[in-house]
Amino acid sequence: MQEKELIIRLLSFLKPHKTKIFLAILCMILGSGLTSAQAYMIKPLLDEIFVNKDRWMLNILPFVLILVFLLKGISNYFSTFLLDTLGQGIIRDLRKKIFSHIHSLPISFFHTTPTGELISRVINDSTLIQMAVSRALAGVFKDLFQVFGLIFVVVYLNWKLALVALVFLPLAFIPVSHFGRKFRKLSTTNQQTVAQVSNILHETITGHKIVKAFGMERYEIKRFSETVDKLFGIIVKDIKNNSLQGPIMELLGGLGITAIIWYGGHQVITGQSTPGIFFAFLTSIIMIYNPIKGVSNINSAIQQGLASATRIFTLLDTKSSIQDKAEAIPLPPFQKEIGFADVSFSYDGKIDVLKDINLTVRFGEVIALVGTSGGGKTTLVNLLPRFFDVTKGSIKIDGHDLRDLTMTSLRNQMAIVSQQTILFNDTVKSNIAYGDPSRSDQEIIAAAKAAHAYDFIKELPNGFDTVVGESGARLSGGQQQRLSIARALLKNAPILILDEATSALDTESEQEVQKALENLMKDRTTFVIAHRLSTIRNADRIIVIQDGTIVEEGNHQTLLENKGAYYMLHGRQH
Ligand SMILES: Nc1ncnc2c1ncn2[C@@H]1O[C@H](COP(=O)(O)OP(=O)(O)OP(=O)(O)O)[C@@H](O)[C@H]1O
Ligand SMILES: [Mg+2]
Repeated sequence: MQEKELIIRLLSFLKPHKTKIFLAILCMILGSGLTSAQAYMIKPLLDEIFVNKDRWMLNILPFVLILVFLLKGISNYFSTFLLDTLGQGIIRDLRKKIFSHIHSLPISFFHTTPTGELISRVINDSTLIQMAVSRALAGVFKDLFQVFGLIFVVVYLNWKLALVALVFLPLAFIPVSHFGRKFRKLSTTNQQTVAQVSNILHETITGHKIVKAFGMERYEIKRFSETVDKLFGIIVKDIKNNSLQGPIMELLGGLGITAIIWYGGHQVITGQSTPGIFFAFLTSIIMIYNPIKGVSNINSAIQQGLASATRIFTLLDTKSSIQDKAEAIPLPPFQKEIGFADVSFSYDGKIDVLKDINLTVRFGEVIALVGTSGGGKTTLVNLLPRFFDVTKGSIKIDGHDLRDLTMTSLRNQMAIVSQQTILFNDTVKSNIAYGDPSRSDQEIIAAAKAAHAYDFIKELPNGFDTVVGESGARLSGGQQQRLSIARALLKNAPILILDEATSALDTESEQEVQKALENLMKDRTTFVIAHRLSTIRNADRIIVIQDGTIVEEGNHQTLLENKGAYYMLHGRQH
């Protein structure tokens, strides 16, 4: 992306805050003017009060001073307040936008993007953009104006002395640009190392069990230590530069100030100037130091902000490959059939994981999908809620191609228990009612009972209000599964997808849950995937999928009599 384009896009984020920015700029300009006025006021203070012993001035000056300090305080307060709230507002807007964009992206996106990276976009990059915007605004409208104001005072007070200053003082700012360049270089490596640290953190904390099980603690600790050491090294360099910059500037500035004292003193002694002018001049020169440093930092902050903006915009520009069409219609309540016609699907565009699937499922049918691992069962059911789109062929519900329907209406008619149970770090109740927080306690309890989860939930320390831990870590695998089943049952959707929903249960509970599920399957269309063939014995139709194709279909009895693939699978389990 071009720098200009980037900046224009960034400015669009500032648009809603126009008034705030305008007011902040006004306050910053006012503050700069008042600071210059303060420096100038040393002249009448010294010349009129101390040298000329002017009583009238002695009475008037304090009031002017109070007024200047008061106004400066007020303008500083508002400029800081406005600028900081503006910055936080930008962070908030960006975070909301990135978050909703991330959740609009299809599942395939998450298979290729590390979580740590996405988190870093929302947390770090938005902050760096805020810093760049605040720094750029303050740098131009506060620091730069301050520099101009003070230069004006200096020239106005004594242009000859100003010429001397002009010769010597730039010396003091050589280190500013020298160190500025160094900082910029370091900040890039710094950024990359911080990203590495967060990646290792994310990976090892979410994978802590495997780290333990494989005894990899020492290895991970070493890997982490090395990265943190590297970061430390970079920061030490930064500190070194930072602590050198001040003294060197002061030393070189001291030379300039010595020249000013010598020439200015000479002017005062020979009567060409007054002590008031001299001290007001000196004060202004010293006061220029900070704003110039501020101005010199603008560029590095902007560069960092632009780098972050590039990363954020690249993410925001990632188009979702699965979206509602403009003319998409809501799916009317499911009534007749779901049809797969010549469906092929490939994850990578090369290997077809599903090949020419033809299947018609009637309303109310219970379809079981069986077959060897990796055959394509999960892939097939993932096409129904459009987690992925078919590569070839079409899937139709009551004659409507899935791609012509709105995603919300389509997914509303499906309840899914996925192969990996997914629970949130929230209460049992909210986990069951996920997707519809308005459900009553009675309904939640009924769903829990149907999923055979009620008994163990009652035993939990806080019952339905127990927090289950990250990904349900405080529950057993079977308990997690039963909560997922309860969640799907509560949704009460006409199409039910159960992908190994009971695989983590012992045979006895499985049979219990199975009974409950069978009750539920009555007025529903159900896709059941199971390795344990005992659980699908009663399905209306059993589909055997191998290597992405349907190799056999029929009910339990006929398939056994066929002595084909199903018979083989069945044989292996007995
Ligand atoms: N996100 C993905 N990207 C690329 N290939 C994938 C992806 N997910 C699955 N596959 C591949 O697609 C094939 C079918 O996988 P799928 O998960 O549908 O199998 P399955 O029949 O559900 O197996 P299991 O019984 O073990 O759950 C496998 O060969 C797998 O390697
Ligand atoms: Mg699977």
